[in-house]
Amino acid sequence: MLPAGLLNVAYIAASILFILSLAGLSNQETARRGNINGIIGMLIAIAATAAYTLGWFEGTAPFTLGAQGLGVLAGAVLIGTLIGGFMAARVAMTSMPELVAVLHSFVGLAAVLVGLSSYMAPLQQLSGTEQLVHEIEIFLAVFIGSITFTGSVIAFLKLRGSLSGRPLTLPGRHLLNLGMLLGCVYLGYDFVGQADHGGLTPLLIVTGISGLIGIHLVMAIGGADMPVVVSMLNSYSGWAAAAAGFMLQNDLLLVTGALVGSSGAILSYIMCAAMNRSFISVILGGFGGGDAPAANGEPKPGEGKGRDDVIEFDVSDTIALLRGASSVIIVPGYGMAVAQAQHSLSEVVKVLRKAGVEVRFGIHPVAGRLPGHMNVLLAEANVPYDIVLEMDELNDDFPETDAVLVIGANDIVNPSAQTDPTSPIAGMPVLEVWHSATVVVMKRGMASGYAGVQNPLFFNENSRMLFGDAKTNVDAILVGLRG
Ligand code: TAP
Repeated sequence: MLPAGLLNVAYIAASILFILSLAGLSNQETARRGNINGIIGMLIAIAATAAYTLGWFEGTAPFTLGAQGLGVLAGAVLIGTLIGGFMAARVAMTSMPELVAVLHSFVGLAAVLVGLSSYMAPLQQLSGTEQLVHEIEIFLAVFIGSITFTGSVIAFLKLRGSLSGRPLTLPGRHLLNLGMLLGCVYLGYDFVGQADHGGLTPLLIVTGISGLIGIHLVMAIGGADMPVVVSMLNSYSGWAAAAAGFMLQNDLLLVTGALVGSSGAILSYIMCAAMNRSFISVILGGFGGGDAPAANGEPKPGEGKGRDDVIEFDVSDTIALLRGASSVIIVPGYGMAVAQAQHSLSEVVKVLRKAGVEVRFGIHPVAGRLPGHMNVLLAEANVPYDIVLEMDELNDDFPETDAVLVIGANDIVNPSAQTDPTSPIAGMPVLEVWHSATVVVMKRGMASGYAGVQNPLFFNENSRMLFGDAKTNVDAILVGLRG
């Protein structure tokens, strides 16, 4: 038997490690340490919870699985570890949001199942106010958990491309959501205080309706807002876990759930600010489903134009431009991640810096497909941290910059965010690359970016298009620069 106090010590240690983990992840120089803290915290949490569940702590467990539970628990942990390890090892960086969405769906489903089982087979017999509070906890866990589960599944299918990224805007959809919400509140009222599991039927109906709310909420949100949705579902999964922590009287689950819930909410807020959208407008959906028609019926800047209307560059032109430049800013985007061009790019940067060219990277907060996507790739390619700058740190420097290389980026350098109020990305802060002397845009063709909107940048007088796969072209530039 282990002393009961040790359980609290383990929970406090794990909580502190989770907080240190979050603090570490806020900066790429400390991110690795942050991750390690999180891993150690989770190992402590799993070991302590398993020992608690098996009744190894003196007089603490309200129930115990006993010795025979050890095999079941070890089997479950082993299977979970194998599946998690397999998925994490195989996932490409570009598919990370999909994996995160799937993991959120597990948290939501777990909260629903814990809620239902906690109602059918309570750990302790409660009565009066205690029972009422417990039933409210169950209701909240099932409600939030079910929204998180179905919403995350839809987000996963949208991110994978199995479902269209277009927002589903049913007529009267806000009223529909409100109606379903009120229905759940009424059923919650009906659920509490019933004897002999009589509340099971309303609870199951709430599970179904909140599942529909989750589906409808995320179906209504367009592709361009998916990052915020994933982060929002992250927050929901945290609150669902916190509710499960209340139900199971597990302080660590409560603390961890609250940390996930609040950090997800803060991240969603930061991302909304980066896209100049209000959180509410994101949640209400209807955005990012392709080109919005111009208000006056006139074509939008760049619309209808194609490859013949742009000025093309080839690799040797780009090399000549870079050789003659004294300051260069590189703006990477999703295409760099797809092409995996970061390693060759890092070599190009080394050669240019050796030749005395000032080279910096400009990182948009939502470049790529997940927060910090570009930072992770550039760190992986050993690009020095001090030349990787945030958008706000160098957006005023473009007028004094000789050459900008836009590598696989599109929406984040789209001037229509500032000039076209009808654009779906209107108001989104963008990197003002067009103020530099020459902009070279490296992409395969004239395709639009994630938000599905045309980019007038390509047709500017000082823009040059270098068509082709980003890695192939960066490799060729490297060979040319070295030669
Ligand atoms: P995008 O606007 O998606 O543009 C990427 C461009 O890369 C495409 O236009 C594509 O054009 C090009 N590309 C694709 N594969 C390529 C390859 N192998 N070689 C060269 N180019 C290639 O990317 P962005 O500028 O990074 O903007 C991010 C967008 O995604 C924003 O709208 C943002 O809201 C959204 N989003 C962000 C996140 C987060 S949190 N970062 C998550 C989800 C969505 P071609 O096909 O013509 O080559």
